[in-house]
Amino acid sequence: MTTASAPGKIILFGEHAVVYGRPALAVPVTQVHADVDISDADSAGIWIQAPDIHLHAELNTLPSDHPIAAVLHNLFFLSRVSPFPNVAIKITSTIPVASGLGSGAAVTVALTRALSAHIKYTMTDDQINAFAYEIEKLHHGTPSGIDNTVVTYAKPVYFIKGQVIETFKVRQPFTIVIGDTGISAPTKESVADVRKLWEADKVKWENVFNEIADISFSARRVIEEGWVKMLGALMDENHALLQDMTVSSSELDKLVSAARNAGALGAKMSGGGRGGNMIALVEPDKAEVVARSLMEAGAKSTIITQVS
Ligand code: MEV
Repeated sequence: MTTASAPGKIILFGEHAVVYGRPALAVPVTQVHADVDISDADSAGIWIQAPDIHLHAELNTLPSDHPIAAVLHNLFFLSRVSPFPNVAIKITSTIPVASGLGSGAAVTVALTRALSAHIKYTMTDDQINAFAYEIEKLHHGTPSGIDNTVVTYAKPVYFIKGQVIETFKVRQPFTIVIGDTGISAPTKESVADVRKLWEADKVKWENVFNEIADISFSARRVIEEGWVKMLGALMDENHALLQDMTVSSSELDKLVSAARNAGALGAKMSGGGRGGNMIALVEPDKAEVVARSLMEAGAKSTIITQVS
C-alpha cells in the first residue's frame, strides 16, 4: 500500500490581493489533513472510494471534469504509464470543503503524491506544486497558486504569484484560533466578484491592493522579528480592507467581533471569504476562551493552532 497526506492551510494576510501580484502569507494547519491510500485492486480498473463525499466509483464512470478524475487523467497523461495498473484509491479528509482551509488543494497534493509513488513516477515537490496549480486552475478560474504552494511544502510561505515562494522564520511562535462559519463559499465566486470591482475602478482597487501588500510585507517582518503582538492590529486592518472588497459576510464579521471582544489581539476572515473561516491572534492562555466565544457567536467548529 502507498500512502500520502497533505495538511490544510490558512492565509494569514493578503488573500485576494495575492491574485493581483501582491504578497501574501499562509501557513499549514496540520490538525486537519487529506489522506490517500493506494493498493493494488483485485478487479480491473481504477477504483475510487471517498467516503466523506459518498463516492465509490470506477474512474471511467466519473465525468472527466470531476476534480478527482481530473487529477488522475492528468497524471496518467504526464507519467505515460500504460497500461495503468488496477488500483484501489481511498481518499479521506478532515478539512471542511469550500471553507478557505485548502481542502481541494490538499486532496490534489495527497493524491498526486500517493499515486506517483505507487507507479514509481518520481515527482519532486516543485513538480507536484506545478501540477497541483494546473488542477487548481481547472476548478478555480484565476487562482494565485498560494493554496497549492503552502499545502505542497507544508511550511509557512511568503508568496508573490509567479515570482516569489519563500518560507519565513517564526522567531516567536504564536497562537491562532480558527473559527468556521460552517457556510461553504466557493473561492471562484468571490475571486470573480473582486475582479468585477477591479475592472470597474482599477485605480481604486490597485490602491487597496497596495495597502494590503504593505500589511503583508510588515507582517512578515513582525513575524521574523518576533514582535508578535503587532500582528493583531495588522489583522484588523486587513479585515477592514476585505470588508471594503465585499468578501466578508455578516457571519464572518460576527465571529471577528466576538473574538476581539473575548480578548483576541486581532482577527480577520481568511481565504476566499463570504463564508468559510476566520482567524484570531490570541495569547496562548486566552485561546480556549476565544474559541468558546466563537462557538457562542455561531461558529460550527474551532481549531487552536500554533504557528512555529
Ligand atoms: C484562497 O484561499 C485565496 C484567494 O486569494 C484566492 C487565491 O489566492 O487564489 C482568495
